[in-house]
Amino acid sequence: MKNIELVTSVEVKTYDELTPQEAQLVELARRSTRRSYAPYSHFHVGAAILLDNGEIVQGSNQENVAFPSGTCAERTACFYAGSTYPDAKFKMIAVAARDVTEDFVMQPVPPCGACRQSLLQYETLAGHDVPVLLAGRNEVYRLPSVKSLLPLSFTNF
Ligand code: THU
Repeated sequence: MKNIELVTSVEVKTYDELTPQEAQLVELARRSTRRSYAPYSHFHVGAAILLDNGEIVQGSNQENVAFPSGTCAERTACFYAGSTYPDAKFKMIAVAARDVTEDFVMQPVPPCGACRQSLLQYETLAGHDVPVLLAGRNEVYRLPSVKSLLPLSFTNF
């Protein structure tokens, strides 16, 4: 028998330690939380995706009275990016969230399983790692890639 060890490395950065490009993307993800439609959960999530054509697309969670019909911020943003700029490759992703207190969450919010799988498809299409920034109130988790959030993932396409 042998073991496979799956290791995820997370850099924890203060806001001062972000590069200007990272800081801009996180700021846009934070702003996107203001456009979330979350009358049921009151949990407002924003995502921003930097593309290799220089565009930054934003998305927020959009809930629906038929609960499963609602969509997370990450999927709103990645499907918007894919449908608006079908030839562009993803370069970096940022996610931020505010809770019922209306303030930004202290702990960064990681994407749900469905969003990880959706984002992974675009990382695979890009052909290189796409860093993911998960913004907390005072710190940002920087993951090196989407696949580091979804080890042993299904990418057979
Ligand atoms: N949500 C996101 O938009 N992204 C995440 O990463 C986690 C959860 C949304 C789904 C739902 O509208 C609300 O947050 C509460 O679960």
